[in-house]
Amino acid sequence: KSLGSQSVHRSIMPVIAHRGASGFAPENTIAAFDLAVQMNADFIELDVQMTRDGQLVVIHDTSVNRTAANAPEETVCVKDLTFASLQGYDVGAGYDSVYEGQRIPLLEDVIKRYKGKTKFLIELKSPELYDGVEEACAELLERYELANVLHEEVILQSFNFGSVAYLSQLLPHVPLGVLTSRSADLTNRKLDKIAAYADYVNTHFTNVTLDDTLVGRIHSRGMRIMPWTVRAPGEVQPLIRAGVDGIITDYPNYVR
Ligand code: G3P
Ligand code: CA
Repeated sequence: KSLGSQSVHRSIMPVIAHRGASGFAPENTIAAFDLAVQMNADFIELDVQMTRDGQLVVIHDTSVNRTAANAPEETVCVKDLTFASLQGYDVGAGYDSVYEGQRIPLLEDVIKRYKGKTKFLIELKSPELYDGVEEACAELLERYELANVLHEEVILQSFNFGSVAYLSQLLPHVPLGVLTSRSADLTNRKLDKIAAYADYVNTHFTNVTLDDTLVGRIHSRGMRIMPWTVRAPGEVQPLIRAGVDGIITDYPNYVR
């Protein structure tokens, strides 16, 4: 499954726009992704969940309440609504009135809009809540000819390691990453296990700055590391010096 040690070291380090250029526009919206592309982000990072009628949608939380300006008091879960109902929520106005009318995007529409313009770092968020989410994602990537490692246009990642291991069977040619903020997941013994099915170990950036052996331990197992989430100028140089393989940031223009 490894991408191979030769490809671990790149001359140009990718900049990944976290939930789009979410430092400047509402997260996980077309507005934030458009801005990320304008800022020459190498990848857009986005979070995927599944509606009651099986549609893959781009939203970070399992409910709409934090990001939808017109959400009711009670919790509205993505898994309980059809895609048509979800479209009633405005996920732009709460950020700034200029973004009023932004909707929760379909993953398919995001792929159609940006394929060839940027690459995709797709996170399956809480996949344990959504039966068949891995299969639905695999089907979509295959349909858009994105399931081939030669192009490396897509990386899939999740905090759910079991889901990533399962994806490695469904999509053997797509680069995969585990997400964790826990240093206990980054021991040599744990990394050996992760290396059996994943290509990336993407962790909170403080784990890199606190442990100067981490990047080397990940590279020596044939994997890469793209830490998150960089939001301050002083956070960039230490990560570059540590030899990371990409930086996930809300501010892709500043990091570039
Ligand atoms: O891509 C890494 C990062 O997105 C993980 O955290 O909570 O922003 O999805 P979160
Ligand atoms: Ca994410």
